[in-house]
Amino acid sequence: MSDSALAGRFPADFCWGAATASYQIEGAASADGRGPSIWDVFARQPGTIVNGDNGDVACDHYHRMGQDVALMSEMGLRAYRFSAAWPRVQPDGRGPANRQGLDFYSRLVDSLLEAGLAPVLTLYHWDLPQALEEAGGWPGRQTALRFADYAELMAEALGDRVKTWSTLNEPWCSAFLGYSSGVHAPGRRDEAAALAAAHHLNLAHGLAAQAIRGVLGPGADVSVTLNPHVVRAASSSQADQEAKRRIEAIGNEVWIGPLLRGAYPEDLLRDTASISDWSFVEAGDLETICQPLTWLGLYYSAVTQVRARTGATPLPTPWVGERDVEFIPPAGAVTDLGWGVDPSGLTDLLTGLAERFPGLDLVVTENGAACADQVDPDGSVHDPDRVAYLRAHLAAVADARTAGAPVIGYFVWSLLDNFEWAYGYGKRFGLLHVDYATQERRWKDSALWYRDFLKGVPGSHG
Ligand code: BGC
Repeated sequence: MSDSALAGRFPADFCWGAATASYQIEGAASADGRGPSIWDVFARQPGTIVNGDNGDVACDHYHRMGQDVALMSEMGLRAYRFSAAWPRVQPDGRGPANRQGLDFYSRLVDSLLEAGLAPVLTLYHWDLPQALEEAGGWPGRQTALRFADYAELMAEALGDRVKTWSTLNEPWCSAFLGYSSGVHAPGRRDEAAALAAAHHLNLAHGLAAQAIRGVLGPGADVSVTLNPHVVRAASSSQADQEAKRRIEAIGNEVWIGPLLRGAYPEDLLRDTASISDWSFVEAGDLETICQPLTWLGLYYSAVTQVRARTGATPLPTPWVGERDVEFIPPAGAVTDLGWGVDPSGLTDLLTGLAERFPGLDLVVTENGAACADQVDPDGSVHDPDRVAYLRAHLAAVADARTAGAPVIGYFVWSLLDNFEWAYGYGKRFGLLHVDYATQERRWKDSALWYRDFLKGVPGSHG
């Protein structure tokens, strides 16, 4: 299908954008009163990040914000999804706002609006103030209460201009990579703590949604982004199907259950009973967590193929309580991170959720590919694999829409190459290439492609 035919499959009011996250792009780690986050501390521990990289400078977006917004505008984006660094706003995670930190986001929002882009603000994309980790982190209930205070403060400061609020980005990563496998900050390896973290992240979402609506009114646009695993079993055998069920429970239903149905599923509680009695769930928590969502944000990169395990489980694992499940490496094409390429998984994710939760609008808040991009002597960056990936995944979104899924937006991950967490700067997801020595931004072919594609979408002014 031609690009213009693909573009024509989307409505005029579709929200087209690109996404980033604070720690991955901002740098300026101690500028203007910013406090340390768990990622600053984690990245300093030897052996945690490839090449010993950290986010001290990153893309220096904090100092280059104006230029970056101009690039977004040139690309024809309608919206920009970014996150605020909590420790920039509240250096210790509590108390009054650090004015200079807050001003940065205020200026960013103003610049976006002036350029005609809608700001889509995520409150938490993994950079917890270190002081809160030292007070117990996400396994502790207090962190959820502090998050609600932070959300309220942000809504008061920016709610006159930011219409679209998202509480958490992919709490699966925060809870299970952060507290069980320990490959993300804060690097703890404690399965019981990871389950408590999951619950307190859910609670933080609910409390923050209430806080935002307390300031901006009950109709305020509040969402959350999940990364549900599209799980496929290797066979129809009972053992492989059971492996699939278990991974769906601990990977997906631990969020979807309380957020959208107001309950943790019984099978999840059974599967994890030897690790936790879930007594951290207090009376009223589930009502608090299950707040109306304006839309549900979704991250998708690849499908997850599983089968029943025959050998020993390598530990530590993010899959709390799962000892009998084996993850099968992708068979076909892979990205530079070794992740499979399978757009049909995105269609399945969107149509599956649309069937389960009729009336819930969906937004693909992140989708993109890591490629081993090289700058040619003439300064161009040819990334045909990323262009093919984006085109195929947009077609998958269009297919889901044709099948009735109410998908209302799509954000490429990512606007810029950036700090790819435990992989450091070696893995590049950007539409724009970043030369980390000079901070020069270069248009990759994918950025040019997205710009041209967006010129042809309905409602575009060309
Ligand atoms: C995260 C991003 C990350 C991307 C690629 C997403 O889960 O939200 O921060 O860079 O995946 O790994």
